[in-house]
Amino acid sequence: MRKKIIAGNWKMNMTPTEAVKLCETLKPLVKNEDVDVVFCVPAIDIIPVAEAVKGTNINVGAENLYFEDKGAYTGEVSADMLLDAGVKYVIMGHSERREYFHETDADINKKLKKALEKGLIPIVCCGESLEQREQGICFDFVRMQLKIAFQGVSAEDAKKVVIAYEPIWAIGTGKTATADQAEEVCKAIRDLLTELYGSDTAEAIRIQYGGSMNAGNCKELLAKPNIDGGLIGGASLKPDFGSIVNYNK
Ligand code: 13P
Repeated sequence: MRKKIIAGNWKMNMTPTEAVKLCETLKPLVKNEDVDVVFCVPAIDIIPVAEAVKGTNINVGAENLYFEDKGAYTGEVSADMLLDAGVKYVIMGHSERREYFHETDADINKKLKKALEKGLIPIVCCGESLEQREQGICFDFVRMQLKIAFQGVSAEDAKKVVIAYEPIWAIGTGKTATADQAEEVCKAIRDLLTELYGSDTAEAIRIQYGGSMNAGNCKELLAKPNIDGGLIGGASLKPDFGSIVNYNK
């Protein structure tokens, strides 16, 4: 039985002061022992957020990492820096980073291997554009993204990874994939993982859905057999996030 994982992706929102306030608001609302709860926050908010959520069920996540250990990479943040600041999870390959910062599948593969080597839990994002969906290449595209991301990753390591399926057309648009559409792709992802690693490993890997998930639609999405959680943008900055975490209460 896979434990559900509900993660907020704060994106580029919240100053350190605002971040601490948001943690105080959300702390009492996100208690649910059936769910792993993660706040993925901007790099500069990691330390104050880690301090603010100490002793709670909230895990701290980062929104990105760099795949080198240290050195002349101005502006980047390493896995060791994240770990030392109290980070447990790290998002990689978000469509916004792919689009605006030109992250490639090969970069994501390097980030995935570095995170696993260091003991961070990767949240690997994938997902098609509207154009790709309309061209009928959604499954092919997502399979390609993940096949490259997982190159050289052992089955034992793959089990630790969380995958987030986020159709680009559903992100920040208010246009959620229907539960059936989301399940169809999450099932295809599980089938790919079975091809790559066998069913024991594929059944252990958690697959989230992301894209306009909110308090109103989360129950139906999270009831699907291959949807093991959510990666939530806009609604993670509001008390609504508590309702999503408590979708089963
Ligand atoms: P929204 O929930 O705002 O659509 O964002 C989803 C997302 O990109 C999470 O990573």
